[in-house]
Amino acid sequence: MPRKKKVQPVKEAVAKKRTRKLKPKQFQTVRGMRDILPDVQPYWQKVRKAVEKIANDYSYNRIDLPLVEFRELYERGTGKGTDIVEKEMFKFKTQGGDDVALRPEGTPGIVRAYLQNGMQSWSKPVKLSYIGPMYRYDRPQEGRYREFYQFGFEAIGEKDAILDAQVIQMALRVFKTIGFKKMSLQINSIGCSECRPSYNSLLVSYLNNRKKSLCMDCKKRLKNNPLRVLDCKEEKCTQIVSQAPQAIDHLCKECKDHFTFLLECLDELDVSYEINSRLVRGLDYYTKTVFEIWATNDENGARKALGGGGRYDELFETLGGKRTPAVGFAAGIDRVVEKMKETGVKAFYPAIPKVYLAQLGDMAKKKSLRIFEELEKAGIGVAESFGRGNLRSQLNQANQLDMDLVLIIGQREALDETVIIKDMKCGSQEVVAFRKVVDQVRKKLKNNS
Ligand code: HAM
Repeated sequence: MPRKKKVQPVKEAVAKKRTRKLKPKQFQTVRGMRDILPDVQPYWQKVRKAVEKIANDYSYNRIDLPLVEFRELYERGTGKGTDIVEKEMFKFKTQGGDDVALRPEGTPGIVRAYLQNGMQSWSKPVKLSYIGPMYRYDRPQEGRYREFYQFGFEAIGEKDAILDAQVIQMALRVFKTIGFKKMSLQINSIGCSECRPSYNSLLVSYLNNRKKSLCMDCKKRLKNNPLRVLDCKEEKCTQIVSQAPQAIDHLCKECKDHFTFLLECLDELDVSYEINSRLVRGLDYYTKTVFEIWATNDENGARKALGGGGRYDELFETLGGKRTPAVGFAAGIDRVVEKMKETGVKAFYPAIPKVYLAQLGDMAKKKSLRIFEELEKAGIGVAESFGRGNLRSQLNQANQLDMDLVLIIGQREALDETVIIKDMKCGSQEVVAFRKVVDQVRKKLKNNS
């Protein structure tokens, strides 16, 4: 008789399946997000240091804003018809039912913070600077990420064009301080709510007559945001736009005088610029001045602007405040770092320690922590490998790192509260009490240098 196959009871089979070990899933970053690893940090550090220095030199105070704000802030501020709001916002509802968004840019948040924190009473202009991540759900590609970092400057409360010139000067100073040699300043004026409507209708009637030849996107833009047709990169649109009426020829007196004075200030500073009648910027709040800084002065530069900004005298009213003139600028740090690498701009590398701290045995290990802190407090950089127990391997490492001095604490030294200081250049060594280590190390480093 054939033997019957033993049938596993269902319960037992389920239990077995449950206990079978599944390999834990390994996670990857979300599309468009990336790690900024230690090897590129020296570039980022150079940018941050330059921004901090220039902000300090021009008396801009640091402000940190929330990453999450009400979605409506951007819908009204950045503008409903903009790509950012229409296509690129990371938006969600909180558990409490608030409609919020991850900030796609800093300017509306700055205005909200100004109004919310009573900065109206501060002395003018209120000068603010920021650095931090922004989020735009764009198609990821080189120079375009879904999470990217910006630094920015905003000067609030002055309508004088000298502030526009100073913001541009600062932006250029940051790039120069980082080490860029060649940059292109593109500048334009797009008027204000007084003169723009009549310019807009001129532009619309010009474009309407050529509507058939425009790209699909521009046909839509013609309805919602005709100015944006001007910066379309499609060949057929650029041809039409090249003959279109230009905003600077239709400015009201105030806007015209403002732009003229700004250009005079830039001339005074010997800053070269290109008046670019197609530069309108993709955000709704700009009035008068708009500008961008490109790494090259060709069309490729437009696609990868290092930064851009302009005046936004009407945004405060849009966001529920009193009319308050303001001007600002923001740049993308990711793009700046890419450009630094591409053009061979040096990164910032902090001073390498010249002193190595080696130890042998548990007691010495504990004492080493104390000596490390004493030296660190005195501003002396120290390398170590506290996890290693073998003295020879630590000395080998000190040799490889080309250290000037090695401090050795063994069992005996730990008991005596002393340290052996070995001079790696001349080979001499001496025993020094703990309390004298800092002074002695300092003296030896000075002699060696
Ligand atoms: P924006 O031109 O939208 O202006 O952005 C400024 C800079 O951020 C760009 O020039 C670019 O370097 C960088 N950037 C933008 N999107 C991305 C992305 N997806 N990936 C990498 N980098 C990117 C503003 O944000 C305005 N808030 C500037 C401003 C300040 N206007 C007045 N005050």
